[in-house]
This record gives sequence, structure tokens and C-alpha cells, in this order.
Amino acid sequence: MALVTTKKMFEMAYKNGYAIGAFNVNNMEITQGIVNAVVQEQAPLILQISKGARQYAKMSYLRAIIDVAVTENPDIPIVMHLDHGDSFELCKQCVDDGFTSVMIDASHAPFEENIRVTKQVVDYAHARGVVVEAELGQLGGIEEHVQGVDDVMAHLTDPDQAVEFVERTGVDSLAVAIGTSHGAYKFKSEPKLAFDVIEKIQAKLPGFPLVMHGSSSVPKEFKDLINKYGGQMPDAKGVPEEAISKAAKMAVCKVNIDTDLRMALTAKIREVFWTKPAEFDPRKYLGPGREAITEMVKHKLHVLGCAGKAAECR
Ligand code: G3H
Ligand code: 13P
Ligand code: ZN
Repeated sequence: MALVTTKKMFEMAYKNGYAIGAFNVNNMEITQGIVNAVVQEQAPLILQISKGARQYAKMSYLRAIIDVAVTENPDIPIVMHLDHGDSFELCKQCVDDGFTSVMIDASHAPFEENIRVTKQVVDYAHARGVVVEAELGQLGGIEEHVQGVDDVMAHLTDPDQAVEFVERTGVDSLAVAIGTSHGAYKFKSEPKLAFDVIEKIQAKLPGFPLVMHGSSSVPKEFKDLINKYGGQMPDAKGVPEEAISKAAKMAVCKVNIDTDLRMALTAKIREVFWTKPAEFDPRKYLGPGREAITEMVKHKLHVLGCAGKAAECR
């Protein structure tokens, strides 16, 4: 089957109380690691590409890798999604490049400007059969091309604004700020998420799919390996898996994960470099990294509840 949009996936996820994993891809090994997991678990899949990924790997290479994944796995519905598009021009380029879903992230702009640019993307994308995710409220953390705020709890999504935003833009899904942040350092003390924000939006917009960014759980296994083998991530802390499962049963239909992939790959590469310092065949350290990604993603698909749901999302 060809690339699909998120429409059927979100409809099923909302109705049946699970969420689809949206995993960031930057190269072949990461993509293969993820795809091997969804094939083994028969799960629907959103592969997402950031502006930084497009610049790092070149879109033509990423597209070719994803095309192979789609052709070789006709049973698995796969979405190719732009993560954190920062302008109408980038979103337009991705629609023209064959993405089936794009995110316009104008969450740092004033409300009216966020509405204006989101609506512009929606008009262009919908006319070409592409779905759009937007963001309201602000997340924390710093990534290469994504700004964050310091105090996430002060920038949560306002439920009334969410209703107005969705009605005025016609967007297909909305990324909400509920206390998560990007990267490996999400909480200075005990993790806390604002589930009441999800509940309020769900009550005001029944059936409308929400998206949770910054949803890596920073697995202890990888954090320990990284720290054991020369890395320095002592204070890394992620979103507890129970919180992710809880959100997935609510209106959250898409859960974004990148940091956990980076940590799985880094942990295994560090382990090989440290324990076998004479090794210099990239297949001998990228291979274990790819396998670690597969095992981590397989587990995650159960946390999200989307394992075994590929068929109903086709
Ligand atoms: O939300 C950000 C994603 O982790 C992508 O990060 O912009 O460094 O590729 P990136
Ligand atoms: P993490 O940094 O928690 O993996 O979040 C990724 C993300 O939200 C990508 O958009
Ligand atoms: Zn994000």
C-alpha cells in the first residue's frame, strides 16, 4: 500500500483508546530499526522528518529509504510526516515532496499569527489531500530547530483557545502543551503532566485528535549504559510510561518520540567503542544500535496500545 494520511489511524486510535507512535528518522539504521519493530508487532506507523533531518540526510535519501519500507511492507499503514515545520514555505515544499502529513509549528507566534499561518498551510495541504497538525501552547527543551521555554507549566495550552484555534484553522490534529518538553531533561523534580488540560479539551472538542510531543521516557537501561561507557547524562529524566499509556487512552492519538531512539543508538555505540576499542567496522556498532531501537520501539508500541492495530488502520 502507498503512504497514507493519519485520518483512519486517528479515527481508530480515538475510538479504541490507543495512540500511534510517531518516530523521528534521520538515517537508514534508525528507520530500519523502527520499521522492523512495527512489522514484528503489526502496528501502524508515523515516520516523521524534521527540518534538521531534511538538511542532514537530504530529503531524496530519506524518501528513498521510506519508499522501500512502504513497498516491502504492504500490510503496514505508514505516514510520512513533517515534524515542526517552521514556515508556510517549508510545509508547502513538503506537501510538494509527497509528505502525507505536515506540522506547522507557529506556537511561538502570537495567537492571531499562529491562526493565520496555520490556516494558510491547511488551505494548501487540504487541496492536495494532505493532513495538517498545528501546535498551541509551548513546550520546553531545546532541539536543533525547535525553540523551548523554561517553565513549561506556565505555557500550557488554554482549552478555550484550543476550540477557537481548531474552528478557525480547520486543522486535523493539535499538539498541546501539557508539561512535556523536548530532549532528555524533562523534569527537574517529580514528573507531572496536566491531564486536566487534555480532559477539558476533550470535553469541548469530542472526537478531535490531540498530539503529545516530548514524549520520550528516557529508558533507564540506555541512560545507565551511556553513563557507564563514558557518556554524561546523569540527570536525564523522561515521561513515565504509565503517563503515556494514560494519555493514549484519552484524546491523545499521536505520541512523538525521538530522544529514546537517539539514546538507544548512542548507548550501543558507546558500549561497543568502550568494550571493543579496536573495532572500526561501522556495521559492528550501528548494527547493535539498530537492534536496540527495534526492541525499544516494540516495547513502546505496547505502551501506546497500537501493537496489532495495523489492519484496522488500513
Ligand atoms: O522535536 C524535535 C525533534 O526531536 C527533532 O529534533 O530538530 O534536532 O531533528 P531535530
Ligand atoms: P522527545 O525529545 O521527547 O523524543 O520528543 C520528540 C518530539 O516531540 C518530536 O517532535
Ligand atoms: Zn516535538
